[in-house]
Amino acid sequence: MSTTFSLDTSTSRANPTPAPMRRLTVPAIRERKQDGVTAEPIVMLTAYTARQAQLLDTHCDMLLVGDSLGQVIYGLPSTIPVTLEMMANHAAAVVRGSYHSVVVVDMPFGSYEASPQAAFDSASYLLKRSNAAAVKLEGGEAMAETVEFLVKRGIPVVGHVGLTPQAVNVLGGYKARGRNDAEAEKIVGDAKALCAAGAFAIVVEGVLEPIAIAATQAVDCPTIGIGASAQCDGQVLVTEDMLGMFERVPRFVKRYGNIAETIEKAAETYSAEVRSRAFPGDDQLYQPK
Ligand code: KIV
Repeated sequence: MSTTFSLDTSTSRANPTPAPMRRLTVPAIRERKQDGVTAEPIVMLTAYTARQAQLLDTHCDMLLVGDSLGQVIYGLPSTIPVTLEMMANHAAAVVRGSYHSVVVVDMPFGSYEASPQAAFDSASYLLKRSNAAAVKLEGGEAMAETVEFLVKRGIPVVGHVGLTPQAVNVLGGYKARGRNDAEAEKIVGDAKALCAAGAFAIVVEGVLEPIAIAATQAVDCPTIGIGASAQCDGQVLVTEDMLGMFERVPRFVKRYGNIAETIEKAAETYSAEVRSRAFPGDDQLYQPK
């Protein structure tokens, strides 16, 4: 990825997209996998805000405005209460903050399951409001008809199989899937059905590694793993997880930073300086000329 241009890292997007920069496209992501081989793995991270998108953008191929923002940003107990409005607002911010990555926005629970038409209405609302390039929805074979309906009407779709967090109440928790033959077969079948329906990529979440490998080998489109396998065609993590924002570190997360400690230390120093009147200092004050 070229870094010879400079990004506008102000909070305003008054400046145009830097000249050498062109946003990746959905077909370009799909074509990364040729004859079952992905020479350059697809890099995806979640993003929920404009500034976060600015910082992640040049390092990623895709930014996912995940409905995990329910827990990560809003402190909700699951992704179930997340609304279309929340997703549209955060997706619009991420699109404003990015120039390069394909922005994918999650369809929240209840916005797409009832019928292909309901899914089209929700997906078109999300894309019109945000300018994101694609939507992601959870569910396998049962969602294949809906995926086909959307794709045929101009809406690129990323599928999501294995552990599907919106189904937490049916699954009974967030444990890795595919621990028996029937489940394993279903996950691979789900991936095949979504790919045949026109999904341009499929997130494979929380499955035993051999199943992730089997699913990746069974489909023409790229798989994006999370708690899956390094042999998937790409990887995604929740950015706050990999930055070390939370105390709990699920097995599939690798920490690449310790942002919680950085924030806490900064807040501790700030509060001590306010209390001791060391802040603001001369450098932070305006004096009469
Ligand atoms: O909502 C989300 O962040 C996701 C990823 C974990 C794949 O769906």
